[in-house]
Amino acid sequence: MPTRSSIILALLTCLGVGHRANAEEPAYAAVRALGSGINLGNALDGPSEGEWGVTIKKEYFATIRQAGFQHVRLPVRWSAHAEKEAPYTIDETFFKRVDEVLDQALKAGLHVVLDLHHYDEMTADPDAHTDRLLALWKQIAERYRKLPPSVLYEPFNEPHDKLTPEKWNALFPKLLATIRRADPARIVVVGPGEWNGFRQLPNLKLPGGDRRLVVTVHYYEPFEFTHQGASWVDNADDWVGRTWTGSDEQKEQVTNALTTISRWSKANDRPIYIGEFGAFSKADMDSRVAWTKFVRSEFERLHFAWAYWEFASGFGAYDPEENAWRKPLLEALLPDSE
Ligand code: GLC
Repeated sequence: MPTRSSIILALLTCLGVGHRANAEEPAYAAVRALGSGINLGNALDGPSEGEWGVTIKKEYFATIRQAGFQHVRLPVRWSAHAEKEAPYTIDETFFKRVDEVLDQALKAGLHVVLDLHHYDEMTADPDAHTDRLLALWKQIAERYRKLPPSVLYEPFNEPHDKLTPEKWNALFPKLLATIRRADPARIVVVGPGEWNGFRQLPNLKLPGGDRRLVVTVHYYEPFEFTHQGASWVDNADDWVGRTWTGSDEQKEQVTNALTTISRWSKANDRPIYIGEFGAFSKADMDSRVAWTKFVRSEFERLHFAWAYWEFASGFGAYDPEENAWRKPLLEALLPDSE
C-alpha cells in the first residue's frame, strides 16, 4: 500500500513541483550565485596572454563587480603552457599568473568559472591527447582544491571535430573522476558535444550519481547574425548587414530554442548555465543591443545563469582604450547598472 505522503509526493513530482526540492542542491545554488557574468575572453585563452589583444588588468575585476556582474568566466589555454611529454607539468610561471588572476577576481567578490579553452590538438586527435588532458586537470584540481566553492571548473570548452559527442560522453567521466580525486565537492560545469550546442543536449550522457554538475550550452543564434564578419568563421563576410530588430518571428525563434533547453533541464534535473552568448562588433549596435537584451531577459525568465562573450575584445561590452563600458551593451546586460 502506498502511504499518503508517497502519493502526495508522486502527485507533486508529476506537477513539476518536485524540482523545488532540488533547488536546495549545491548545483542549483551555484547557478543562482553565478547569475550574471562576463567572459574574460581573448586573454589567457590566446596562444599567450596579450597576443590576442587582451591583457587582464587587476582593476577590471572591480569594474566588472561594480557594474553588477556576479561572476567571470575565465577561459585558459592550459595546453599551451604544459610539457608535451608525461608528466605534462604545467609551467609554474603560468600557474602563478592564473593564481594571481583568480585571487583578484575573488577579492573583488566575483565567482569564477575556470575553463579549459582551445586545446586544439585534443579536438584534432583526442586519443593522442587524453592522458595529457587528464594530467592537466589533475594538476589544476590539486592546486586549487582549497579555493572557496565560488570557483567552478569547466574541464573542456566546446568539444568538436574528432572529439565527437560519443567520445566526449566517454571522456567526461574520466575527467570528472580525476577532478573528484583531488577536489571531491567542487561544482563542475559540463556541456554537450558539437561546440556545446543546445541541440546536442539529448545526447549528453552524465554520470548519474554526481549531483554537483552544472550543464552549460552556448547560444549564438541566429549564427549568421551573431557571427557576421567574424574572421575565424568561413563565409562570415557574406552575412555582414544582417540585422536583429526583435520582430515577433525573431523573438519566437529564440524563445522556442530556449524552451527546449529549459525542458531538457527539468526532465533531467540539471541546472543550466549559458556560458557564452554575444553578437560580434561587425553587426550594427542597435541590433546587437536588441538581441543581447532579449536573449538575456529570456535566460533570466527561465532561471539560467549566463556569461556574455566577452569583456574587452571583438564582442566587447567594455572599451579597453577608453576604459569605459559600451553603455548600450552594458544596459542590455544589466538594466539596473548605473
Ligand atoms: C568560442 C571560441 C572563441 C570564439 C567564441 C565566439 O568560445 O572558442 O574563440 O571567439 O566562441 O565565436
